[in-house]
Amino acid sequence: MITVENLSKSFWGNAGPVVALEDVTLDVPTGAITGVVGPAGSGKSTLARLIALQERPDSGVIRVDGFNTAALDPRRLRAARRRIGVVTQGDLLPQRTAAGNIALPLEQAGVDGPQRREKVGKLLDLIGLTDKAAHYPDTLTPGQRARIEVARALVGDPGLLLADDPTRSLDADAAAGVLTVLDRARAELGATVLVVTSDTGVIRRIADDVALLDGGRVQEAGNLLTLVQDPTSHVAQSLLPAIDAPKGATAGHDRSAEITLIGFAAVGALLPEATARFATPIAILGGGLTRVGETPVARFLVGLTGPHAQETLTWLTTRGAVIRQQPTLTAAIAA
Ligand SMILES: Nc1ncnc2c1ncn2[C@@H]1O[C@H](COP(=O)(O)OP(=O)(O)OP(=O)(O)O)[C@@H](O)[C@H]1O
Ligand SMILES: [Mg+2]
Repeated sequence: MITVENLSKSFWGNAGPVVALEDVTLDVPTGAITGVVGPAGSGKSTLARLIALQERPDSGVIRVDGFNTAALDPRRLRAARRRIGVVTQGDLLPQRTAAGNIALPLEQAGVDGPQRREKVGKLLDLIGLTDKAAHYPDTLTPGQRARIEVARALVGDPGLLLADDPTRSLDADAAAGVLTVLDRARAELGATVLVVTSDTGVIRRIADDVALLDGGRVQEAGNLLTLVQDPTSHVAQSLLPAIDAPKGATAGHDRSAEITLIGFAAVGALLPEATARFATPIAILGGGLTRVGETPVARFLVGLTGPHAQETLTWLTTRGAVIRQQPTLTAAIAA
């Protein structure tokens, strides 16, 4: 487990000090994928460089398995850095093959030939490029090159794999390929993964946990599926389907509500079951279905009709639906 506690970092810009990070506190749980998302300039890359131990904070502490990294002597600091695999971009050596690029850090570390070949073979398999082992970078697609760069970052069996904007300038298919590799690194190699991105699609695809940065501060952080159930969450708003129902869509219903459903059972069967149980028709007026990781998630605007409308909503809540009820017509008039 990596913990970041009260981290602050400023730079000197042309117009005086620029605060890149302010009092950032964050947990990066072991064996999970943590996503850091935020707009341009929000401090994501600065946070990544500090966690990679490439730069020091002005104040605050980064702990790895409880050890304060600021207290490490130079030798231990180098050893701690070696436990972190940083995915770089666009710096494969053109005169080396795919396999040769992945093997380079092992050669530099003096690992012998047979061991190197075994390791590189496993990583080529992990990234799905076994058949491209002998190809040179300029004969590969940008997506294939990006996967090789992930493999090279994994070659020293790092405890933490860190990727800053790994899907930048890749098309959708290539980006999906890179994200699959990050996910396999976690699932098959047990790596802890920290991925920085400005693309909420990346968070949706692979993150278990997420931190939203804005202006150098953590606005929200936590488990993604938990945040998705929080009606005030900005992360949830950006990942859930838009409601986009026409104005007045709820007219004529006894109750209307925005409802979030999570998981196969909830998304598939809960509304029909409620209708059958309470003889209450539930009309879907807006919203839709999406996926967060492997989990289906729906957000609908629904209208309920009949004397049991309220009871039906209450029952849905007891079954795990997250409900944000719209004011009833009479309540709206009273207000
Ligand atoms: N080495 C530096 N010198 C001066 N200012 C810096 C430096 N690094 C970052 N900054 C400033 O700190 C702030 C945060 O930058 P950072 O690169 O961490 O943001 P980011 O979230 O990664 O942005 P992007 O999405 O564009 O990559 C910005 O205002 C940036 O200009
Ligand atoms: Mg950045």
